[in-house]
Amino acid sequence: MRSKYFVSQLRCEYLVDPLGIDVLEPRLSWLIQSERRGARQTAYQIDAEDKDTGLLLWDSGKVISDQTAHIVYAGQMLQSRQRVVWKVRAWDEFDNPTEWSETAWWEMGLLNDSDWIADWIEAPPVGGPRTTSPCPYMRKAFNLSGKGEPCFDGEPVEAAETDDSRSGRTPERAVKKARLYITALGLYEAYLNGKIVGDDVLNPGWTDYHQRVRYRVYDVTDLLLPEENVLGVILGDGWYCGNIAWQGRQNYGDRPKLLAQLQVEFQDGSQVCMKTDETWKTSSGPLLESDLLMGESYDARLDFGDWAHPAFSEDGWQRVHVFPDPGVRRVGINGPMVKRIQELQPVAEPVEIQGWPISKWIYDFGQNMVGHVRMRVSGPRGTTIMLRFAEVLNPDGSLYTANLRTARQTDYFTLKGEGEEVFEPRFTFHGFRYVEVSGLSGKLERDLLTGVVVHSAIPVTGSFECSDALVNQLQHNILWGQKGNFVDVPTDCPQRDERLGWTGDAQAFIRTATFNMDVGGFYTKWQQDLAESQNEFGAIPPFAPNAAGGLSDGGPAWADAVVICPWTIYLTYGDKRLLETHYESLERFVGFLRRSSRNFIRASFDLPPSEADEWLWEGFGDWLAQDGSGKVYGGTPKDLIGTAFFAYSTHLLGQIASVLGKDGDARQYEEIYRAVREAFIRRYITEDGLIIGQTQTAYVLALHFDLLPKEMRPKAVQALIKDIQSRKMHLSTGFVGTPYLMHVLSREGHLDAAYDLLRQKTWPSWLYPVTQGATTIWERWDGWTHEKGFQDPGMNSFNHYAYGAIGDWLYAVVAGIDAEFDQPGFKHILLHPRPGGGLTYVKAAYDSINGRIESSWKVQDNRLEWEVTVPPNTTATAHIPSQVGSKVLEGTKLPEMAVGINEARLEVNELVCELESGKYQFLIEPYTITQ
Ligand code: BGC
Repeated sequence: MRSKYFVSQLRCEYLVDPLGIDVLEPRLSWLIQSERRGARQTAYQIDAEDKDTGLLLWDSGKVISDQTAHIVYAGQMLQSRQRVVWKVRAWDEFDNPTEWSETAWWEMGLLNDSDWIADWIEAPPVGGPRTTSPCPYMRKAFNLSGKGEPCFDGEPVEAAETDDSRSGRTPERAVKKARLYITALGLYEAYLNGKIVGDDVLNPGWTDYHQRVRYRVYDVTDLLLPEENVLGVILGDGWYCGNIAWQGRQNYGDRPKLLAQLQVEFQDGSQVCMKTDETWKTSSGPLLESDLLMGESYDARLDFGDWAHPAFSEDGWQRVHVFPDPGVRRVGINGPMVKRIQELQPVAEPVEIQGWPISKWIYDFGQNMVGHVRMRVSGPRGTTIMLRFAEVLNPDGSLYTANLRTARQTDYFTLKGEGEEVFEPRFTFHGFRYVEVSGLSGKLERDLLTGVVVHSAIPVTGSFECSDALVNQLQHNILWGQKGNFVDVPTDCPQRDERLGWTGDAQAFIRTATFNMDVGGFYTKWQQDLAESQNEFGAIPPFAPNAAGGLSDGGPAWADAVVICPWTIYLTYGDKRLLETHYESLERFVGFLRRSSRNFIRASFDLPPSEADEWLWEGFGDWLAQDGSGKVYGGTPKDLIGTAFFAYSTHLLGQIASVLGKDGDARQYEEIYRAVREAFIRRYITEDGLIIGQTQTAYVLALHFDLLPKEMRPKAVQALIKDIQSRKMHLSTGFVGTPYLMHVLSREGHLDAAYDLLRQKTWPSWLYPVTQGATTIWERWDGWTHEKGFQDPGMNSFNHYAYGAIGDWLYAVVAGIDAEFDQPGFKHILLHPRPGGGLTYVKAAYDSINGRIESSWKVQDNRLEWEVTVPPNTTATAHIPSQVGSKVLEGTKLPEMAVGINEARLEVNELVCELESGKYQFLIEPYTITQ
């Protein structure tokens, strides 16, 4: 009997049932499930209907295709607020159709400017425009049986009759659906009739508020009351007017602003719309201060109870100000929202730091995490409890906060003294493992504190485990570095006064990020941030959003994120639209490189004064490398890095052009790439075949970006190995060289050296921080050492993901799960594990956009067992490691005889097989473990 074959996991624009997108031609994806070998999709059919009217919007008919990812909706033109339900069926390799899938849906946001009828409102200033105001509470009472405002068609909406005893309306006038469309310049938390709306936090996230702001849509049908209702919103400063990095406050504006409209539709089709306008009331309340970097202060004595409930009296509340439309573009969601993802408890009894008159207590959450703490506490009225947060402790057990620079990350809660009170901050986040609690006369039991982990809601897609517990902890640290730094934008670090979308860090880590978590939507959003930060000359700044018009050129390896990131998203998710959407921006960037590079060397100063900025022009070098005689830029010449990345970005743009069918452009960029490559060779290769600078990063870039003539490669490889050996098998690379180092070594015949680096325990190395108890990736190889103690507090984060960029090597080389760019999105998979380093087993899995891929190998009793799963509707090339004299079986058969294996050919030290989908078990015997 054939095993079950069906369609599952329907998604739209990377999201499950998204509410409030404004993509006019959304892309649909699904997975084929089947256990049998060779399961494929030969055709599909999509059916999409309007949820309300039941009208058919699109019947794709039977489409002969094996694609299941990013199928572009091609039905009737979508309208604002329309909810579309869709389903799909597929035909298998025998041309048998499946049943229709379960239905999924998406709902459109507001597509036209004219759909927005609300006004931007703000609280009147307290003090003056430069004063930090307490967080404004805003509310509006409205009656659903009364007259509404004009809604979609501009016609006044009729009053509802009231006669039904419970609901106050006849069945036809009962509410059919209600949606809240809401955004803020700042942060918001919304309540309808006292109940919180949605489960996402730090809304609406960070974009360049001069240009665009995202709005959210919530289904609030079940929160409405029959007659009297109240919509209440608390506003926070957030990125809009709170502190950003070292740049101070009020980067975009002086006070937070709110824009919201609540649209209610009744069963009889009539509608009312309640919106922000001058009739709203506002008051300051218990939330005295809230800042992303500094923390939050809440005085429960000022609580005004059920302020967002109809029974509350607005006495003493003021009228809001209407703010002239700032002209910022309002856009729907196009990526994940930030949410509370998980909770942690302190792992040990708190440690007392004695003090007079009262002590402080230090709680250890066992994990360097990002988010906040929820506290349950009781005590006398007026007691102020202070919570301070730090990643590490001083030798005396107190919090080490010097590395936070000016970020106070401190919360204050003042008790009203009426039994147990619960505090949880709203508009701040901290990077911490330890929390110091002070202000209470005694100890707070540890189960009264909960660590709430907050980050963008991107599902975990990868897992990697092996026989070395330290390497497993490294993988754990990489994942937690990603959790902590994927808070709406990819940030450098989550704790000090920085937390910026640094471009260099993001490009260094992106390939690893794609393995660990489903980041397609997350980077789609950030690519827009990058595009909006591009200046008129095509330059890309060192971070995006470019907070408050920071620097214009990020320089080599930083600015290049604009090309590297979308290319990586294409490679791993097959997302061609991202390339199409930003092609022009990429072209402008490479055009800028070309104009500003003299004789193709990137770091000359050949620009008109308006475009040039000398220091930045050279960039940040190989940031934090160990070979720069103590300088943060490392020892690799900045112009060499610049020219190497000029070549790389141009080459990638050429490939992007050919993916998009722009063959003329592709040829043109390939020519520029060749010219840059020649310039690189002329300028940086010495007569005896060495590379100027002679650093590990210089050799790695030249080899990885293919910048050397073939005959010079062995010499470069040798020089690289010699340098590693001269450092007693230690690396010296910084942010720029590290992501490629291991790939170069394993590709160029030095797998053993790569494993030596992986398993090295003394610094600089990946495992050194692990041996020191790290639970996230450190910013610096020597963040803390026995010899020197803490590194320079001016720059010493213990949660920086950049060096976690080794993660993709663990997946792609050690476990052997890799993508191929001519069939991107893992439609065709490269399975090529490289056992070694004395590891006895590896177990890895990756949920790709085309399904779950698994690769596990084990060396035991003189044999190697390798199990792989190739998901349905994909194919793979499997490189089976073998040794001289060893025999390979799949199950009990020779591979060439096995079902699902189309071809098996012998190559040097491996048997290469072409696999159809399915699970395979290879046995290679005899096989000896390699150290
Ligand atoms: C950040 C980085 C960033 C660098 C630029 C640092 O302060 O934390 O990770 O890339 O500056 O050199």
